[in-house]
Amino acid sequence: MIKEPQVMILGSGRAVPDKVLTNTDLEKMVDTSDSWIVKRTGIRERRIVESGVPLSELATRAAQAAMENAGVAAADIDLIVVGTVTGDMKFPATACLVQDRIGAAKAVAFDLSAACSGFLYGLQVAEGLMAVAGYRRALVIGGDILSSMVNWQDRDTCVLFGDGAGAVILGPSDGRRGILNTLLRSDGSYSNLLYNPGCGSLNPPTPENAEQKLHTIQMNGSDVFRHAVNSMTEALRQVLEEAEISAGDLDLLIPHQANLRIIEAVVKRFDVPHERVYVNVERYGNTSAASIPIALDEARECGRITTGSLVGLVTFGGGFTWAAGLVRV
Ligand code: ACO
Repeated sequence: MIKEPQVMILGSGRAVPDKVLTNTDLEKMVDTSDSWIVKRTGIRERRIVESGVPLSELATRAAQAAMENAGVAAADIDLIVVGTVTGDMKFPATACLVQDRIGAAKAVAFDLSAACSGFLYGLQVAEGLMAVAGYRRALVIGGDILSSMVNWQDRDTCVLFGDGAGAVILGPSDGRRGILNTLLRSDGSYSNLLYNPGCGSLNPPTPENAEQKLHTIQMNGSDVFRHAVNSMTEALRQVLEEAEISAGDLDLLIPHQANLRIIEAVVKRFDVPHERVYVNVERYGNTSAASIPIALDEARECGRITTGSLVGLVTFGGGFTWAAGLVRV
C-alpha cells in the first residue's frame, strides 16, 4: 500500500563543470577509442573540474539553484546531508562547508558515504530525521569529483567517470506529493570489487602508497556490471511491490547513470517504455552520487516530469550499496 507521504521535494538544482572531456580527448591519453567507449558504455563526453576546484563549490551551486527553485531561504534550512566519497577534505564535512557558504546558520550538517548510492541514502536519512527531530526543511545533495580519484592511465576506469552535483530541498508533504517509498541495501562482502584503498587509515597517503596509485579507483568491471543489474532490478521491484505500483504506472524512471548497457539491462526487466526512462549518461558519464539528482533536475527543467509525476529512482555503487525510491514530485 502507498503510505501517505510525510516529506516532499520542494525544488531541485544541479551544477556541472564547464570543461568537457570527450572520448576523442581520451583517445590521446590512453589506448581507447570513441567507438569502444560508446559501444560498451553509451558515454560520449563527461564534465571535469579545473584543477583545484573542490566539491563544495559544485555542491554550493547546486544547493543555491535548488533553494531558488524551491523558494526556500538558507535561514530556513534545518538539515544538510551531502552524499559523497570525494568531499573537499576528510574533515570538516563538505556539508559544513556548504552550510557556511550558503549561510544556513541553524542547519545541522554532515556527509554520508555510500558511493553512487549517496543521494538516495541521503534522501531516506533526511526523511527519517525530519520525522524524528522535527526538521522542517532539509537540503540533500549528491555530489562527487571522481576525476580526483581516477587513474588517468587506466583505460578500464578513466573513461567511465565525470564530476557534478545535484540537490533537492525537502519539506512537509502537501498530503499527496512526496517520498512514497525508499529502500536501502548494502553488502560489504563485495567491498573488493569496487573500492578506493588509499588515503584512509588502511593505506595512509605515504609516498609508497601514492607511487602504487592506491588513491585511485580499483574496479572489477564485469563483476560490478552483473551485480549492478541484479541488485537494481531487485530493489526497484521491491519498492514497486511494497507500494502496489506497477512499473508501467511510472511517469519517469531515473536509473543511476553509470553505463547505458546497465540501464537497458535493468529496464528490459520492467514494463517501462524507453521514452519514460531518463538517460543522460552520454553527456556526463558516471557522476556517482550526483547522477540521480542531476537527472531529476534536468527532467524537471525540460518538462519530462511535472507537478504530480510519479518517478522511480534506482541506483547501485561501491560498498556494495544500492537503493531505490518512489517519489511523487
Ligand atoms: N578502451 C578500449 N578497450 C578497453 C577499455 C577502453 N577504455 N577498457 C577495457 N578495455 C578492454 C579490456 O582490456 C578487455 O580487453 P581484453 O579482452 O583484451 O582483455 C576488453 O576491452 C573487454 O573488457 P571487458 O571488461 O570484458 O568489457 P565490458 O564489456 O565488461 O565493459 C565496462 C567494461 C564498461 C567497465 C563494464 O564492465 C562496466 O560498465 N562495468 C560496470 C562498471 C561501473 O559502472 N562502475 C562504476 C561504479 S558502480 C556503478 O556506478 C554501477
